[in-house]
Amino acid sequence: MIEIKDIIEKYPREKRYTLAMLQDVQKQFNYIPRQALMMISEYVDTPLSSLYSMATFYKALSLKPKGKYIIKVCDGTACHIRSSMVLIDEIYNILKIRIGETTEDGMFSLETVNCLGSCAIAPVMVVNDKYYGKVTPAMVREIIKEYGGEKNE
Ligand code: FES
Repeated sequence: MIEIKDIIEKYPREKRYTLAMLQDVQKQFNYIPRQALMMISEYVDTPLSSLYSMATFYKALSLKPKGKYIIKVCDGTACHIRSSMVLIDEIYNILKIRIGETTEDGMFSLETVNCLGSCAIAPVMVVNDKYYGKVTPAMVREIIKEYGGEKNE
């Protein structure tokens, strides 16, 4: 198992590598543990508050552990007018999580994105890297089942 220290020390002790370090930590642990922020802060001699700002500014970075499966529902214009919000409601009905939340068992996180570049098959939903197009609420239930998640019924 790669340690935080190993990730950080791949980089020179320079501030300009801060984001790359954070991205690497995110990739390895699926979130950025507080300990990593403290170690990076010391390593590149940057205040912890700057690292917090960075970690909260970039959507790809998370200070909270994310689920094993990240569900992204597109809420770009094409998907929005084809009722993407109904999909989000259905996800809440099934998993009891809202946008930005993770299920208690750590299996699923829910996010929205602006456009996945697949407007022709709107509304679009992605689980990790797998795309689903023309998604209906009934399909949402089936898709979540594929990943072993069905809290209701
Ligand atoms: S708006 Fe959803 S894929 Fe483009």
